[in-house]
Amino acid sequence: MKRLTIPAIRNRKGKDPVVMLTAYTTRMAQLLDPHCDVLLVGDSLGQVIYGLPSTLPVTLDMMIAHGAAVVRGSYHSLVIVDMPFGSYEASPERAFESAARVLAETGAAGVKLEGGTAIAPVVEFLTRRGIPVMGHIGLTPQSVNALGGYGARGRSNAEHAQILDDARAIADAGAFGMVAEGVVEGLANEITAAVPVPVIGIGASAQCDGQVLVTEDMLGLFERTPRFVKRYDDLAGRISAAVETYAAEVRARDFPGAEQVYPARG
Ligand code: KIV
Ligand code: NA
Repeated sequence: MKRLTIPAIRNRKGKDPVVMLTAYTTRMAQLLDPHCDVLLVGDSLGQVIYGLPSTLPVTLDMMIAHGAAVVRGSYHSLVIVDMPFGSYEASPERAFESAARVLAETGAAGVKLEGGTAIAPVVEFLTRRGIPVMGHIGLTPQSVNALGGYGARGRSNAEHAQILDDARAIADAGAFGMVAEGVVEGLANEITAAVPVPVIGIGASAQCDGQVLVTEDMLGLFERTPRFVKRYDDLAGRISAAVETYAAEVRARDFPGAEQVYPARG
């Protein structure tokens, strides 16, 4: 099976929904790859993998290490890597250097970066130089300090208008798609209708051109999950039960059993 391309994903607008999940490791990528269209190496790995309080301390080197791991574990899905906070905002040139490292050192097909009208010149600079960019608008977690929290966006008229402008600006700048996170449903529908590229929702609307979730959230592996996460399993509960059994067997000297030890020679 050939790996999906950027044009193939862009052409899904108005057609089949884009299935996207986060992946940070090779083994998880292997498990998700047959079912997904896009694997996102999200900077959410800061909280999910590293126990950091937000995505702000995540570094380019962390994203590159996990991006390469996910590319190694997949061959069908398009792999997109998040640009971490501080690696792209200061100037288009700085963004290009960071994004070029991501593509060269991971083998991923494109990058995702947060922001709207203010970051559109960066998106244009990258896309005109061969670096495919996915946008990320609405609730942009790297701006948590400015936003004051992770609440839904687009409830006031001013915010609604700004986010719609952001979506148009990012699409006009050449993004091949965008994530719309934590925006009220009606606004998500308007964004989806307003731009000619796929809008991937998270906490947005079923009318978006695709959906993304943090894999650990939807599997019930991460502790705290927001309202928009549907739990498709309870892996945390299953892991606890398995480890409880292992601990009891070790303490009772029931493990290892006869099948797990090497018999003597001869
Ligand atoms: O970092 C991430 O996981 C993301 C998705 C939630 C879209 O940006
Ligand atoms: Na992210």
